[in-house]
Amino acid sequence: MKKFLKWIGIILAALSGLIILALAVIYFQTESRLNRVYAAPVDTLPIPTDAASIEHGRRIFQYRGCEACHGEQLQGKIYLDDPALGQVIAGNLTRGEGGYGASFSDADWVRAIRYGVRPDGTPLLFMPSTEFYFLSDDDLADVIAYIKSVPPVDHVQPPSSLSLTGRAAMTLVPAITFIPAELIPMDAPRPVAPEAGVTAEYGEYLTLSCKVCHGLTMSGGLIPGFPSDWPPAPNLTWGAGSSLPAWEESDFIHFMRTGMRHGSQVDAKYMPWSSYKFMTDDELRSVWVYLQSLPPLEYGNR
Ligand code: HEC
Ligand code: HEC
Repeated sequence: MKKFLKWIGIILAALSGLIILALAVIYFQTESRLNRVYAAPVDTLPIPTDAASIEHGRRIFQYRGCEACHGEQLQGKIYLDDPALGQVIAGNLTRGEGGYGASFSDADWVRAIRYGVRPDGTPLLFMPSTEFYFLSDDDLADVIAYIKSVPPVDHVQPPSSLSLTGRAAMTLVPAITFIPAELIPMDAPRPVAPEAGVTAEYGEYLTLSCKVCHGLTMSGGLIPGFPSDWPPAPNLTWGAGSSLPAWEESDFIHFMRTGMRHGSQVDAKYMPWSSYKFMTDDELRSVWVYLQSLPPLEYGNR
């Protein structure tokens, strides 16, 4: 009996030793990913100061979802607060107390938005630069012009931090993109953005964010890495199981502005029409043209 208990003790000690070792490995691995210094390119974009460019930048800031995460006054907001993952803060972008506007150079803005890195080259968490990497020089310059034009707001927030279980998820769940900078082809030639116009190409440029939820092929399905109580994303191609072939262009524009579909409203928490409503009629038309140009796929071929 005594011998048996001794063996149980040895096994338990070995197991807890293994767990501690695994946690230590996860901690040090994630620490090195979080502290990696990226040699992101330094693109020099002339930042305009005229009212029309600033106004255009404001609209892009709204329909690309920056405002939803960073706040209407750009004062910063808590993006994620969950003990299982950690606390991630979308920063105050103004020149007020606690704001990055007081210290960021034009090059710092470009590197943060386009490449997802801080001024010291370490990566930002969850900031969707994988999408903003594709913004044209002109669009990005207008967004920065707008950010620089807003009144200062004093709002001091703590730095972002991940919990130990959040670090474990960062190691074990590749479907969640913790560090967008890891996915950005920093050395590749810059992608060429299409001219604005009611074309499928320009529509595709405006739908980069849709793909996170509706899938790379836009055929919808359950959204990987999202909470299980989320509704699945519908098929946006003209294939089997899509409701869009029965929609008119005007139904689509109305839906993207109001979330209203067949007389009931879709929650903007799931389908962010509260950001997309800032697109012009022509911009939404080009999205509609793009969706129709997609290969028709059956629902769920993400
Ligand atoms: C899904 C939410 C989300 C969206 C959309 C988003 N951001 Fe961020 N952004 C973040 C988070 C979170 C951070 C900070 C991450 C950290 O602390 O590691 C951040 C960081 C930044 C930073 C660096 C300063 C800081 O807060 O640490 C800038 C600049 C920035 N975002 C600008 C933008 C602009 C411009 C857009 C739109 C083109 C945008 N963001 C869209 C979440 C978002
Ligand atoms: C954050 C996730 C998310 C993003 C980003 C997103 N959608 Fe959605 N979308 C959804 C979900 C979820 C639904 C279904 C909501 C429901 O049924 O309650 C939906 C519904 C729709 C519908 C209604 C389709 C139908 O069959 O009823 C259309 C149209 C649509 N989205 C278009 C878009 C377009 C275009 C974009 C990008 C410009 C986009 N969505 C971006 C999650 C998203």
